Amino acid sequence: MKEIESKEDVALLVETFYQKLVNDELVSHFFSQLDLKEHLPRVIQFWSFILLDEAGYSANMMEKHARLDLNEESFDRWLKLFHETVDQFFTGEKAELAKQRSTLIAWTMKTKFIK
Ligand code: HEM
Repeated sequence: MKEIESKEDVALLVETFYQKLVNDELVSHFFSQLDLKEHLPRVIQFWSFILLDEAGYSANMMEKHARLDLNEESFDRWLKLFHETVDQFFTGEKAELAKQRSTLIAWTMKTKFIK
């Protein structure tokens, strides 16, 4: 177990998380049309901005979710898999921040996008 300290750490987190997402019976369909070669670097950049204060992510991440048919169960699964992946590899302040921030953003998305 180690702290999240580098972009390589963030990449390990995001890549392992997405392996779980694309194999999950409840949420995999959201990701089936995505070109992961293009998508994953953006997600890595996003988390590097949050966890490592690294500049480079400037898109409107929230809006990318507006047209998806999201529901409460999908959010709960997404969050469970994300937290599980953080705990699989990492401990410490940044690991806690990753879990806190994902919970907060998922909650904000839920209130914005679930009808
Ligand atoms: C049920 C929950 C979620 C599902 C099914 C989901 C699915 C997706 C999909 C399909 C995209 C690609 C959209 C596109 O390029 O048109 C995307 C982008 C993204 N999502 Fe999620 N998402 C969920 C929750 C979250 C949460 C809670 C976060 C952050 C904590 C997040 C972070 C991102 C980021 C950073 C991108 C990349 C945006 C970009 O291309 O700049 N997602 N998501």
